[in-house]
Amino acid sequence: MESRLTHLSTFLLLFLSITTEAYDSLDPNGNITIKWDIKEWTADGYLAVVSIYNYQQYRHIQAPGWTLGWTWARKEVIWEMMGAQTTEQGDCSRFKGNIPHCCKKDPTVVDLLPGIPYNKQVANCCKGGVVSSWAQDPVNALSAFQISVGSAGTTNKTVRVPKNFVLKTPGPGYTCGIAKIVKPSKFITKDGRRTTQALMTWNVTCTYSQFLAQRSPTCCVSLSSFYNDTIVNCPTCTCGCQNNLTRPGSCVEGDSPYLASAINGPGKSSLMPLVQCTSHMCPIRVHWHIKINYREYWRVKVTVTNFNYRMNYSQWNLVIQHPNFDNLTTIFSFNYKSLTPYSVINDTAMLWGIKYYNDLLMEAGSSGNVQSELLFRKDPSTFTFQKGWAFPRRVYFNGDNCVMPPPDAYPWLPNAGPTTILRRPLLLPMTTILWAALTCLFGYF
Ligand SMILES: *[C@@H]1O[C@H](CO)[C@@H](O)[C@H](O)[C@H]1NC(C)=O
Ligand SMILES: *[C@@H]1O[C@H](CO)[C@@H](O)[C@H](O)[C@H]1NC(C)=O
Ligand SMILES: *[C@@H]1O[C@H](CO)[C@@H](O)[C@H](O)[C@H]1NC(C)=O
Ligand SMILES: *[C@@H]1O[C@H](CO)[C@@H](O)[C@H](O)[C@H]1NC(C)=O
Ligand SMILES: *[C@@H]1O[C@H](CO)[C@@H](O)[C@H](O)[C@H]1NC(C)=O
Ligand SMILES: *[C@@H]1O[C@H](CO)[C@@H](O)[C@H](O)[C@H]1NC(C)=O
Ligand SMILES: *[C@@H]1O[C@H](CO)[C@@H](O)[C@H](O)[C@H]1NC(C)=O
Ligand SMILES: *[C@@H]1O[C@H](CO)[C@@H](O)[C@H](O)[C@H]1NC(C)=O
Repeated sequence: MESRLTHLSTFLLLFLSITTEAYDSLDPNGNITIKWDIKEWTADGYLAVVSIYNYQQYRHIQAPGWTLGWTWARKEVIWEMMGAQTTEQGDCSRFKGNIPHCCKKDPTVVDLLPGIPYNKQVANCCKGGVVSSWAQDPVNALSAFQISVGSAGTTNKTVRVPKNFVLKTPGPGYTCGIAKIVKPSKFITKDGRRTTQALMTWNVTCTYSQFLAQRSPTCCVSLSSFYNDTIVNCPTCTCGCQNNLTRPGSCVEGDSPYLASAINGPGKSSLMPLVQCTSHMCPIRVHWHIKINYREYWRVKVTVTNFNYRMNYSQWNLVIQHPNFDNLTTIFSFNYKSLTPYSVINDTAMLWGIKYYNDLLMEAGSSGNVQSELLFRKDPSTFTFQKGWAFPRRVYFNGDNCVMPPPDAYPWLPNAGPTTILRRPLLLPMTTILWAALTCLFGYF
């Protein structure tokens, strides 16, 4: 009993530290780094290129994209911007003739949309604020703009770094540190024959925490197997409850004649999902089906279903933890990359769609799903269908945790009782219970 308790408290500590701090054990170095490179001193300030690097393995920024804010240290103004703009100009009444682009003490910047005229573009700009994750597409894991700052210092001794950086995507979740002056960036010309360098560079690092994002779950997992007819559905009310009395219109039936008007109804422009009515009410469900047992291999089918009528998930990704990923033999119709945070454990995989084929998970409806099959080679020393071993340990969709069914509900092997299942994965019920407890505590709903 005592060892059980210490076990429990270890899990509790582990779980709480994972949830409350911006530390993600599957992507321990994941961060977004914002770099300012001063390229020129001007009459009253400087010209800088600001680059946003997404160093997160599997968390991308999807439409409608990032917004970046900060507070000027003194009375700086933005004369001009290329590749991005501030959302508000602010009060520029102290200027005559030449009016700055923005005079706010705390400007908020957004990316421009693709297709903007070339004379307003800079390299890596104008993607509507969409930034890929590092593992999925490192070339597009970068966003940049150019800024001309006035009423600022004009030497590296007098310039002051901006403060209080705020990165939204567009919701909360990121915490940014202070800007640190670092070694000036070097740039190599295209022909590789000359290197230039910034006059001054500073970096800001922002990290993500799902806890700060204060999101209720957005994704759940259902399970089935060839050896048992039971389909274990997502836990009821994972992402909300169907309640016609207190929240009418919280979901729509797939065959409702009012579907079209509901999709275009109130809340269309907000980010609120409009979900199809299900017992779990999640916008996303990941289904893991143990399909075939061969002599030396076993085969799994993974299906991701979109129940959100208001969202096409572009560049979606899945992260799945299962001990057999170290012997994944073949994966059909998804891209695959092993995430190996610890060199000894190789049990976590990132899966995402193939460009132009299934990298867009369409809105809810007949084409609102993507699927793949995975072929694993059995390692005789660990492989078993007993005790739920063949089901995943953890699943993330777009970096957010997907809620698993409780292990005592997993499909049993014929002749196996639930007690044999219950013994093993203590972590799973604990996380579910803790998640429920935390959501109650912090009033997510
Ligand atoms: C941010 O991520 C990069 C790339 O993984 C890493 O080199 C850097 O140390 C990280 N920065 C911080 C402050 O964690
Ligand atoms: C400022 O520039 C001088 C040389 O012009 C250099 O020695 C010094 O390290 C620079 N300081 C910073 C903070 O970049
Ligand atoms: C600053 O950020 C850039 C871009 O991510 C990176 O190459 C550089 O190493 C960083 N510098 C420090 C000191 O972290
Ligand atoms: C809510 O309404 C729908 C259709 O109007 C109905 O099918 C469903 O059973 C109702 N749910 C509850 C919990 O009353
Ligand atoms: C999803 O994409 C399809 C095809 O590009 C488009 O017709 C539809 O309006 C999009 N739906 C949403 C919610 O953006
Ligand atoms: C992890 O597994 C993948 C796929 O089987 C393999 O390509 C990769 O080399 C493995 N990495 C380590 C560190 O064992
Ligand atoms: C599975 O992978 C592990 C680690 O890569 C390796 O030691 C083992 O031999 C593999 N098992 C089989 C059956 O291929
Ligand atoms: C299938 O698994 C369920 C638990 O999810 C169990 O109640 C049922 O008895 C199992 N069926 C067989 C044939 O073992």
